Amino acid sequence: MRLKNKVAVVTGSAQGIGAVYVKALAAEGAKTVIVDIKDCAKTAEATNTDLPDAELMTHICDISDETSVHGLVQKVIKKYGRLDILVNNAAIFASLDRKPFEEISVNEWDSVMSVNLRGVFLCAKAASPIMKAQKYGKIINIASDTMMKGTKHFAHYVSSKGGVFAFTRAIAKELGEYGICVNSVAPGLTSTDVMEAEENFTLKRFDRSVSARSIQRIQQPEDLVGTIMYLASSDSDFVTGQCIVVNGGDNLY
Ligand SMILES: NC(=O)c1ccc[n+]([C@@H]2O[C@H](COP(=O)([O-])OP(=O)(O)OC[C@H]3O[C@@H](n4cnc5c(N)ncnc54)[C@H](O)[C@@H]3O)[C@@H](O)[C@H]2O)c1
Repeated sequence: MRLKNKVAVVTGSAQGIGAVYVKALAAEGAKTVIVDIKDCAKTAEATNTDLPDAELMTHICDISDETSVHGLVQKVIKKYGRLDILVNNAAIFASLDRKPFEEISVNEWDSVMSVNLRGVFLCAKAASPIMKAQKYGKIINIASDTMMKGTKHFAHYVSSKGGVFAFTRAIAKELGEYGICVNSVAPGLTSTDVMEAEENFTLKRFDRSVSARSIQRIQQPEDLVGTIMYLASSDSDFVTGQCIVVNGGDNLY
């Protein structure tokens, strides 16, 4: 129960990796807020099945919209009176088409940036005054190892994650004096329930990333949990502005 009495918000946790972070944070005793633009009931039910005593709240929020994000933070403060851990995990990812960059429309580019980068900015901006007043906070921004690989036909996504990496460094410098740590995590290609449910899901899709790794197997969401828990807990109180790459030793950063 390393996170007992802490309040954690995980954006983009209606499905995929975010749902696994919710369970891990709740298992350590954090009151955990499940946030997504989609219905979050499935994550809450699954977490409560495994952890009947977990204190959970669900909230629908569009992280690209400042008013919506403001509403989220207001609700968290009204219910719990604090906000200790923000996991900026939501992104346009699984649903995103891969295509040559010349074929990416301005609308598509802007919509990826508005969620993947502006959304991270807005959530950090809304959480920051609360964390400053507490003189304590952990902001964990989910980037991707694609930003170092430069994955082909994914220029909007790759660029957005490069932005998350840089934004993390910039605000870590501003928030350190308030006891707030800001770090990013860069996962490698990770198999999720969403990907596995796809009609044309094939393990072949993972072959290239597996063969490039030092540890040659498919990455699972659970592979990220230890790093998230480290960054969410007081174990990392002197670690800020860093990026931890969790990809089984593919590209070595
Ligand atoms: N799965 C991977 O291979 C992988 C690899 C590296 C990084 N990542 C990153 O990890 C995170 C989680 O990945 P995933 O595979 O679970 O992705 P996913 O696409 O399955 O889940 C993302 C979640 O974000 C939510 N979301 C999208 N737009 C939103 C908005 N405007 N407001 C609120 N929520 C919104 C979606 O509804 C979804 O539930 C993402 O940041 C992704 O970029 C994933």
